[in-house]
Amino acid sequence: MYVILMGPQGSGKGTQAARLAPRLGLTLVATGDLFRAAIAAQTDLGRRIKAIYDRGDLVPDEITVGLVEEKLDDIRRERALGEGVAGALFDGFPRTRAQADALDAALAARGERLDRVVQIEVPLETLITRLTGRRVCKRCGTVYNVESNPPRQPGVCDRCGGAVVQRDDDKPGPIKERLDLYFAETAPLLADYRDRGLVEQVDGDQPIERVTEEIARAVERRSAGQKVEG
Ligand code: AP5
Ligand code: MG
Repeated sequence: MYVILMGPQGSGKGTQAARLAPRLGLTLVATGDLFRAAIAAQTDLGRRIKAIYDRGDLVPDEITVGLVEEKLDDIRRERALGEGVAGALFDGFPRTRAQADALDAALAARGERLDRVVQIEVPLETLITRLTGRRVCKRCGTVYNVESNPPRQPGVCDRCGGAVVQRDDDKPGPIKERLDLYFAETAPLLADYRDRGLVEQVDGDQPIERVTEEIARAVERRSAGQKVEG
């Protein structure tokens, strides 16, 4: 099963993906997390994309698609070894028409297809408040919020004890740039997914646990429907 979580920055994709991937038995493919890891490890890729990332611009499609294809191959290998991976949950990918087309082609080349696109909706003012208040663990990536979901001890990750900090792109300039890019480049992809009958909308302006339940129901409904049809 291959599922995309789609929504503007701050809609809760990362928060929800971390909760849902294990529950659904899906491998999490979060391009933003892959880029942050490369930047932190100061790999060649990390050095190439750091300035782009910090500005809030999109990393070039070839780089992004290449990383996702590697992940799809990992999943195929794990499935061949019988490791019980049911597919992938995409967070932050695709974001452009070229990436969406590349994903369809990459899945088709591996005998797979997209099953569901979950659109998470949150009012714009709430997005900006959430992004401004977001903090993340430098070590394990757990997402917090100074207002709605703070760590028990300020600045220290509940899960791993790592330092909890603000992301370099969660400053007013990059936040605006990223939201503008979402509405210009990414939101238009939903029309095509809707025509293909793949989109399920979820109200993301509710408590985190409630949003998780709604997304899980949307995905499970779809996979149950497919079993009945097929
Ligand atoms: P990425 O890491 O994907 O960031 P993003 O798209 O900017 O999305 P966010 O992570 O900001 O939002 P989110 O929806 O995950 O929200 P979260 O759960 O954290 O990408 C970063 C950069 O990498 C891009 O700018 C680009 O440079 C590059 N990149 C990545 N993918 C790319 C691609 N495909 N192509 C090209 N470049 C790419 O939640 C936000 C806050 O809200 C948190 O504080 C959280 O605690 C809080 N919150 C969440 N849910 C709730 C709730 N229900 N109630 C109250 N608070 C909540
Ligand atoms: Mg995220």
